[in-house]
Amino acid sequence: MIAIPHFISPIEILLQIIINKYLSESYCLVVISETPLSVKLPMSFTYLDPKKEHFSVETLLKLSEEGCSDYIIRMEDPRQFMNALEEIRPMSMVRRSDKKLVIVPVTDDENSMEPILNLLTMKESSYYAHILLILPTQTERFECLAFNLITHRFVGSDSESKLPIILDRWYSCTNHFENNVYLFPNNLKNLNGKTMKISTFIYKPYVLLDVDTAVAPLGRDGIEIRMIDEFCRWINCTVQIIREDVDLWGEIYENETGIGVIGSVVEGRSDIGIAALYSWYEEWKAMDFSVSVVRSAVICLVPAPRVLECWELPFLPFGKSIWIAVVITFVYASIGLTIAQGCSSNKALLIVFGTIISQSQYIVSDSWRIRSVIGWLLVSSLILVSAYGAGLASTFTVPQYEPSIDTVQDLLNSRMEWGANHEAWTFSLALSSEPVAKKLIKQFKIYSFEELQRRSFLRKMAFSLEELPAGTFAIGEYLSKEAVQDMQLMLEFFYFDHCVAMLHKNSPYTEKLSELIGRLHQSGLLLAWESQVSLKYLDYKIQLETRLSRARSDVGDLKPLNFNHVEGIFLIFITGTILSTLFFALEIFIGKQARKK
Ligand SMILES: *[C@@H]1O[C@H](CO)[C@@H](O)[C@H](O)[C@H]1NC(C)=O
Ligand SMILES: *[C@@H]1O[C@H](CO)[C@@H](O)[C@H](O)[C@H]1NC(C)=O
Repeated sequence: MIAIPHFISPIEILLQIIINKYLSESYCLVVISETPLSVKLPMSFTYLDPKKEHFSVETLLKLSEEGCSDYIIRMEDPRQFMNALEEIRPMSMVRRSDKKLVIVPVTDDENSMEPILNLLTMKESSYYAHILLILPTQTERFECLAFNLITHRFVGSDSESKLPIILDRWYSCTNHFENNVYLFPNNLKNLNGKTMKISTFIYKPYVLLDVDTAVAPLGRDGIEIRMIDEFCRWINCTVQIIREDVDLWGEIYENETGIGVIGSVVEGRSDIGIAALYSWYEEWKAMDFSVSVVRSAVICLVPAPRVLECWELPFLPFGKSIWIAVVITFVYASIGLTIAQGCSSNKALLIVFGTIISQSQYIVSDSWRIRSVIGWLLVSSLILVSAYGAGLASTFTVPQYEPSIDTVQDLLNSRMEWGANHEAWTFSLALSSEPVAKKLIKQFKIYSFEELQRRSFLRKMAFSLEELPAGTFAIGEYLSKEAVQDMQLMLEFFYFDHCVAMLHKNSPYTEKLSELIGRLHQSGLLLAWESQVSLKYLDYKIQLETRLSRARSDVGDLKPLNFNHVEGIFLIFITGTILSTLFFALEIFIGKQARKK
């Protein structure tokens, strides 16, 4: 592919040195050159000619997907290349923190240097740590060529980081470097105070902001904030918090923009996004993820079952089907008795009702037909009444509770909605094809903070929360201590997920941050921080109330019978008395009217 010219130009010699020294480890190299380049490439490579049609965004994307992360660019206007690289960023799935770009001028003309130098001031260039510009420069000796090797500072304050620095100079006559330095110096060991923009919002115990500076010197704390502070202590950067208090986690739109923490990372408004961000698939397609910081488990607080209302007690001994059977027996026996009496309804209903509640009957009839109907009814009612008596005794002594919601299936069956103040809780379930997950998403509701606060006392919904590895619960601020007292933790987790830090795709910091997180896990610091933060800042009463919500003392208490237990029975009696008095009065009234006529 690469034509071999008759002589090798000085820039090709220099490029060969750079390739041998810095790019020989490269998995695959992309050479984009408008003019033939005569260099030997000891690794797999692809040659693209931007003047011909096969240089396109699609080709670049395909190469990037194949793992080609290093580029040699020799174009009239290399900014085109930067733009193309930026265009394929959302689509490419292969990520590399250490992409190397080597930019070579097309001619030796000094005027062609301007567009190349301008490259460093592009916003896109700030996403790459390793950019090397090779620019010809003047020397005292006419026949000799010299090249400046230039990169951007990358580190330091915002105004400094875009400035070019001349790393070295190479002379074609002597074939030696002036300083002999390493040409890709930005190894992220010391960022010299470069600002690291962190988008986040207050989400205990991951991120706490606005903390009293007497408690936390920087006014911020939290598991992930400590991780970021540690990161910046390690590589010498300055943390700048970008708050996303309104849109919280936010979302990404189709057009590569977005809101909230996620959106600000996608748009490049911040370098790192934190705040219990789970490893969501849609977000992974648009961003880089660090390794897992915290394993989190999602579970719900549901209203604790209450002791049943006392008026229901007389109905509890029998289930629904038995009550229906009793009613059918009553109707059936009444019909039987009526027929046995020769189709005369003479007190049939009263006799059957009395027999069912085991009252003795005065029956003058000596008909065997009637006797056998009554006799069988007596036998069955004897059994029913003793069964009812036994059931009633047990409902009176052991307290009866409403059905409790323990599993996800229970929650679905009860049709109780579960919710929080942001949709992010369902992101992890969104792609699932399981019916249970789909139903869970349907039952999820988003309410404002105030509405959630109000609803926490209504016993009508479940509230999602996270359980962290050291046993801390991340509970929304809208749940107060009083509200939690009337709730209990479910027994089954909804799902587990890993919290990660999100970074701009191909961010140079991803690998560095992952390395730090690995060290934090190794030393157990993340667990320790979780305990420290929760002891220091979280309301331990809410934490304890949640943890022990299933061990409250009133469960299983045996109490002596009191008036409440028989309330229901008196209720039936009073209703009966009032009804019969009314009917009695009605009868007298109707009788008088009849006599008047
Ligand atoms: C960290 O950066 C600051 C500049 O903000 C610099 O003064 C300091 O020397 C750096 N620290 C180290 C250890 O290099
Ligand atoms: C991107 O899409 C969102 C919603 O679909 C819209 O609000 C926003 O203005 C769009 N941004 C651009 C730059 O097109």
